[in-house]
Amino acid sequence: MKPYSSRRAALLSQMQSLGGGIAILATSQEMTRNSDCYFPFRHDSYFYYLSGFMEPEAVLVLIAGKTNQSILFCREKNPEREIWDGFRFGPDAARSEFGFDAAYPIESLETLLAGWLTDAAAIFHTQGHSCQLDSHLQHSLQAVRDKARSGARTPPLTYDLHCLLNEMRLFKDAGEIALMQRAASISAVAHQRAMYIARAGMHEYELEAELLHEFRRQGAQAPAYNAIVAAGANACVLHYGANNARIDDGDLILIDAGCEFDSYAADITRTFPANGKFSAPQQAMYELVLAAQSAALQHAIVGTRYIDGHNAAVRVLTQGMLDHGLLDKNQVGSLDDAISSNAFRQFYMHGTGHWIGMDVHDVGNYREAQAPSDDAEKPYRLLQAGMALTIEPGIYIRPTKGVPEKFWDIGIRIEDDIIVTEQGPLNLSQDTPKTIAEIEAACK
Ligand code: GLY
Ligand code: MN
Ligand code: MN
Repeated sequence: MKPYSSRRAALLSQMQSLGGGIAILATSQEMTRNSDCYFPFRHDSYFYYLSGFMEPEAVLVLIAGKTNQSILFCREKNPEREIWDGFRFGPDAARSEFGFDAAYPIESLETLLAGWLTDAAAIFHTQGHSCQLDSHLQHSLQAVRDKARSGARTPPLTYDLHCLLNEMRLFKDAGEIALMQRAASISAVAHQRAMYIARAGMHEYELEAELLHEFRRQGAQAPAYNAIVAAGANACVLHYGANNARIDDGDLILIDAGCEFDSYAADITRTFPANGKFSAPQQAMYELVLAAQSAALQHAIVGTRYIDGHNAAVRVLTQGMLDHGLLDKNQVGSLDDAISSNAFRQFYMHGTGHWIGMDVHDVGNYREAQAPSDDAEKPYRLLQAGMALTIEPGIYIRPTKGVPEKFWDIGIRIEDDIIVTEQGPLNLSQDTPKTIAEIEAACK
């Protein structure tokens, strides 16, 4: 329980430096799928980050006052419900197992919260995140207001708790990096498995099944996001999710899939030939995306700006688009012209990555808090050790007049998960076949 209590202590110390107050944070709500069936429960990432507690119907309250306190509200023990739904800790066991100063039944939240909020310096709240938590807070605050004539005051200040937690979560500690490595290693094997099994005539969902099989076989709790298994032209649909088409001989197959292991995500994309051998046009485009990824990777180092990797990838890709006749020099002009006019976006229309961690698109600001002057944009922030990001350039060529037909319907993305370290980029997904030779060998 050490990382969770250390994080609570770090947050409480930040709250103290802002004058103290009460923080309140809820886990996710269970969601009905249909009828009386539920989606698998997944705890809220912020809540878990500070508590390690995985049951639904739980709220964390942190008090930064004369003394600091961490308090959990959770479901009571219930022998009848435990026969049907399984074990629940109950407040007493949760308090001792998870190292809280106190724990209470969830039903007592509003009453106890009203007491702590009375005359508190500030509320630290995840504003607009959960209607249910907002409602609890509203009832507790109303209970304080009801005592206004006795002198009770509601907190005069509200801070957005997410702002503090986003910055904490952006920097991964050694334990988190180990979990992300495990998620990436399992996902790497799953990609290899799909490459090995894929054949023309199969359906995309058969490969999705192989990925899910490998995730669960190795103890990952779930996919970190819905897998994309896109053959042929489907690879040009960026968020393709149907995964139901037949795979044809000569197709490239783009798989974007990663598992979640102990609450941490992997996010890996590879693109490989259904028949095990890249055609010449496929190979040319693949080498281009690979070169773009390699250029971006060189910028995943301490002291460069977040956007530098994207700019490097765009430069390589755009030069390739000009060289291969995807873009016509007579129409778009020079390399710099094609970049500044965004002409490249016809074939590369997304960013080159995102933060990754407990959430696949993890939290954290991408830009500095302030612009250098009123009329300037806020600069992208500098990379620092402990940040985790994906690097995922691609190229997507829809059938278009003027674009050489041999490239039509090619969609390629190559995505790895990187930790920025003082020693350079640590590629968590490096065991996933990536060069043409590695991929063709894995497909054999
Ligand atoms: N799989 C989601 C993404 O690559 O951003
Ligand atoms: Mn990604
Ligand atoms: Mn992805």
